Amino acid sequence: MPLVCLADFQARAREHLSKTTWDFIDGAADDGFTRDDNIAAFKRIRLRPRFLKDVSEVDTRTTIQGMEISAPICIAPMGFHRLAWPDGEMSTARAAQATGICYITSTYASCTLEDIVTAAPSGLRWFQLYVQPDRQLNKQLIQRAESLGFKALVITVDVPTVGNRRHDIRNKLNLKMNLLLKDLRSPKERDSIPHLQMTAIDPSICWNDLSWFQSITQLPIILKGILTKEDAELAVKHNVRGIIVSNHGGRQLDEVAASIDALTEVVTAVQGKLEVYLDGGIRTGNDVLKALALGAKCVFVGRPILWGLACKGEHGVQEVLNILKKELRTSMTLTGCRSVAEINQDLVQFPRL
Ligand code: FNR
Repeated sequence: MPLVCLADFQARAREHLSKTTWDFIDGAADDGFTRDDNIAAFKRIRLRPRFLKDVSEVDTRTTIQGMEISAPICIAPMGFHRLAWPDGEMSTARAAQATGICYITSTYASCTLEDIVTAAPSGLRWFQLYVQPDRQLNKQLIQRAESLGFKALVITVDVPTVGNRRHDIRNKLNLKMNLLLKDLRSPKERDSIPHLQMTAIDPSICWNDLSWFQSITQLPIILKGILTKEDAELAVKHNVRGIIVSNHGGRQLDEVAASIDALTEVVTAVQGKLEVYLDGGIRTGNDVLKALALGAKCVFVGRPILWGLACKGEHGVQEVLNILKKELRTSMTLTGCRSVAEINQDLVQFPRL
């Protein structure tokens, strides 16, 4: 049976992966309320199509931080791609390059940044940082990413501690024993130590620390995990260049708002002074259209990328991205949008409950 939508990839990936790996990827914090609401919230929004607008040509291209991408659909940072496919992040990077979109590489990548860049030298990439307690290590990582051609620094702010993921506790998941966190090691260690400790994330980081990051890199800084107008306003004040509205796919604090429900508050607060993106629950082209209609410049996709990887490696990731792109094109055509710039809030409505 051909895989024709992201749900098909989800079902097939589940068959391919061990229970422990499936639970890690699929898993959420506590009751998984927010993970599920990320998806349900999109389905509560209705579309308002416009017709007779000559949609014989529809263009999905756009830009993020001034760089062109083939569609406003990019890859969210996720650790440990080698859990899903032997070539891990190298396959993901090749698929992103072939599709012409941006791939945010995680601090917890299971391939080195150098190997990822070599696998797909011309792909657009951003680097996601989990701030490490050792300042020098942060500096080394950021400057290494910058010299390797990564185009933005994404600082994830919603993990001062790891959320309570019950399945992983029940399964006694031990990522430290299974994977090399190669980027957090010195070059000598990277190839020699078989099992590494997963380094802690610094819970003491605060707004005033951002100026230190700005002083050590030219890269635009993007904050991932903002959900409120208060933090959005602080991001503007601290000269941040972008925000990813995200609840970490429901893996951190459960019972926060679905990403799409938090988007409007953030978009309104920043008054166009920085780019706002969204991740969480994107599964169809209609979801992408709705996020853009509510003010996101682009969306990032998480779990479906790992489903693609688990099913068919690089080609699976490419298929997942191409399905979403094709669905977005259809959604744009059926709602009368010839370009991404024509997607606006008149396209959506929230039915009264
Ligand atoms: C993540 N996410 C994540 N975020 C981050 O900033 N750094 C990381 O290393 C990871 N790792 C990670 C691993 C796995 C297995 C998952 C599922 C997620 C969160 C990710 O970037 C994104 O916020 C969500 O996955 C988006 O939700 P969807 O698309 O999975 O619904």
